[in-house]
Amino acid sequence: MDFNRVIDRKGTGCYKWDYLTQFFGDDTILPMTVADMDFAVPEPIVQALQDRLAHPVFGYTGQQPSYWEAIAQWMEERHGWPIPTDWLIDIPGVIPAMHFCIQAFTQPDDKVLVQTPVYDPFFQAIQRNGRSLAISQLVYQNGRYLMDWEDLERQFRGGVKMMILCSPHNPVGRVWAREELTRLITLAEQYGVWLISDEIHHDIVFPGHNHHILGKVADGYDRIVTLTSPAKTFNIQGLQCAAVILPDEAHRKAFKAQKFKAGLYLSNTLSMIAYEAAYRHGGPWVDALVEYLDGNRQYLREAFAESDAIDLIYPDGTYVAWLDCRPMQLDSLALKDYFVQEAKVGLNKGVVYGQDGDGFMRINFALPRPQLKEAVEQIRIAAEKTM
Ligand SMILES: Cc1ncc(COP(=O)(O)O)c(C=O)c1O
Repeated sequence: MDFNRVIDRKGTGCYKWDYLTQFFGDDTILPMTVADMDFAVPEPIVQALQDRLAHPVFGYTGQQPSYWEAIAQWMEERHGWPIPTDWLIDIPGVIPAMHFCIQAFTQPDDKVLVQTPVYDPFFQAIQRNGRSLAISQLVYQNGRYLMDWEDLERQFRGGVKMMILCSPHNPVGRVWAREELTRLITLAEQYGVWLISDEIHHDIVFPGHNHHILGKVADGYDRIVTLTSPAKTFNIQGLQCAAVILPDEAHRKAFKAQKFKAGLYLSNTLSMIAYEAAYRHGGPWVDALVEYLDGNRQYLREAFAESDAIDLIYPDGTYVAWLDCRPMQLDSLALKDYFVQEAKVGLNKGVVYGQDGDGFMRINFALPRPQLKEAVEQIRIAAEKTM
């Protein structure tokens, strides 16, 4: 669990580190972009993969009962939600699952709502499936983002069929309170709106906050789909594993029909091994990880506390943070170039997450603290120069 260890990821086809010239025009910068971590995967996962690799055949593989049980056990022990294993459907990723939900539970041209600023593949999932994108902007108030209840009600009344919730929220870092989720479910139930809850960041939650799985809070409302995954938690995004939790049998059938229509039947042999090992043996590692990330989060807060140029929106969870750079008076594209040139770091442009993200940048803080400190100091100094 040496989170301070610097690991060279270049040359592994790493999406964050190996495409710097293409995305930033500079191969020497430190990327704080794509939401994976520059940390080694926990040892029990590596061991389980190595054990499996010792067997020389990698033919078609199905899930063992212990695989489903491991997921159900994690949901119960870490999230207080005991679920039967037959509610689970395997899927290579949360985003493909979102596409299938849209296909299964809405019709062409139906309105599907997201709350911006939000992880941009949400937009594409809606638009590439020929649905109409409805946007409700989150309200930025006293350094925190809140749901705009009046706007949500107006839009639900106006015919929205589905909403995709990001919980915890990427990029603004909110872990939604139980009261907020209850209120959302009540509103959705009133208008029969489907709620698709992307909970991929659900294990990275900082002290003082509790994550509530939407499907657990639902209490009988059956138009709720929970999308879960060990990918962010254990840094195994490249293995492509996720699961859908759907309590209603008819809904599961409708979801699976779309999955099968796309020709997706069996799963990846190694991803199943990693998924199960993560949930069976990874608990202590996650506790240590969250503590370390919390240290990084606190460092960010200290670093920007006195800054006139950047306000940090202090995240409740996730390992991305949202920086309000509007005092610098540059748009997102100019900010991206400025930080590359002046601070030698790569950040994500806020406008990618919605028009209301212009003037903001997203920073990934899941990296060894000495590197984080150096990069953040460069960002802080560069930002002050514009004031
Ligand atoms: C909110 C959110 N959902 C989904 C994903 C990607 O999910 P997957 O790789 O399982 O499709 C990410 C990755 O950054 C994310 O932040």
